[in-house]
Amino acid sequence: MTRTLQIAAPDDWHLHLRDGEALYHVVAATALNFRRAIVMPNLKPPVTNAQMAVAYRSRILQALEAQCNSGQYSDEQVQAMRLFEPLMVLYLTGATTPQDIEQAVESGVVKAVKLYPAGATTNSDAGVSDLLGQCADVLDAMQHLGLPLLIHGEVTDHTVDVFDREAVFIETVLKPLRAAYPKLRVVFEHITTEQAANYVRDHATRDEQGRLLLGATITPQHLLYNRNALFKGGLQPHWYCLPVLKREPHRQALVKAATSGLPQFFLGTDSAPHAKHLKEMSCGCAGCYSAPYAMAMYAEAFEQAGALDDTSLFEKFCSLNGPAFYGLPVNPGRMELARMSCEVPASLPFVSESGIVPLRAGEVLDWTVTRLN
Ligand code: NCD
Ligand code: ZN
Repeated sequence: MTRTLQIAAPDDWHLHLRDGEALYHVVAATALNFRRAIVMPNLKPPVTNAQMAVAYRSRILQALEAQCNSGQYSDEQVQAMRLFEPLMVLYLTGATTPQDIEQAVESGVVKAVKLYPAGATTNSDAGVSDLLGQCADVLDAMQHLGLPLLIHGEVTDHTVDVFDREAVFIETVLKPLRAAYPKLRVVFEHITTEQAANYVRDHATRDEQGRLLLGATITPQHLLYNRNALFKGGLQPHWYCLPVLKREPHRQALVKAATSGLPQFFLGTDSAPHAKHLKEMSCGCAGCYSAPYAMAMYAEAFEQAGALDDTSLFEKFCSLNGPAFYGLPVNPGRMELARMSCEVPASLPFVSESGIVPLRAGEVLDWTVTRLN
């Protein structure tokens, strides 16, 4: 008999949906696999205040509704897609004010603020170059109001080896930040190293209300692949994302963290769509488009680790730990996955004729999402 897994409907705590036509092409893939998603604000221009976040949220829901009405999906799928809820994030800049933070909390739709160290990744030019120097009053307000700071944790100093930038960030930015703001709620996004996994494992303290002060998201590619994937048989641009894939011991540490059941580790795909021709060029963009098949990939990572014997560890990582960190209810709906092969297409429709190449294009995966309701 085909093996199936049932878990509470999962959420994606780190997602890029883009805007305009790109948004229209990618939003359904997430709504068919996740009930909620933390939507990253690195648009051009970035989403820097509550008003922009509210407007972006309605564009997301409009694009989704257009997909629901496109005739491409079954009634059951449309029903699931209409339950999708985007959770919005402000992009922290040197000009962000404590009033922006207050208005974000009052809006009810903004759930966090994102730190992009200036120059660290795609659309990070408007980010912050000196967090503690530039953002003291904003960090005070966030700490006071309990609004989480989501961190792209890499230093941008070009003299630091690209594979070491996350580990150096922990020592030079994250530790001083948490010492200066001990009640600030922090998510270390898309962690890629043993140092990050161990730091989050050992330093996730709680506040007086019992809320975790530190969490981390982990992507499917960092659980399944090490940096060899970037060079296998030639340069592989579709495996290039930031932070970049690391050595095998780091991957193993991430698998251990994700499958530990510890409440500070949760799912965040970092699905980051870029058109095929912009990945396959002389200076290719960073980002892997994983949303359509991410749940199958996470199931594969857990299965490989021997952590699917009962579904509780998988469910914690995908569906329970994230809501608990964000103080949100667990989704009432359920997801079913079956151990049934599923082929990832070579490319999917996107803004340009070249389309978009999903992560693991052309491969056959062992798991398939069979139901979300
Ligand atoms: C992301 C993107 O394309 O927006 N790219 C990536 O490689 N992960 C930005 C980010 O999360 O760093
Ligand atoms: Zn991201």
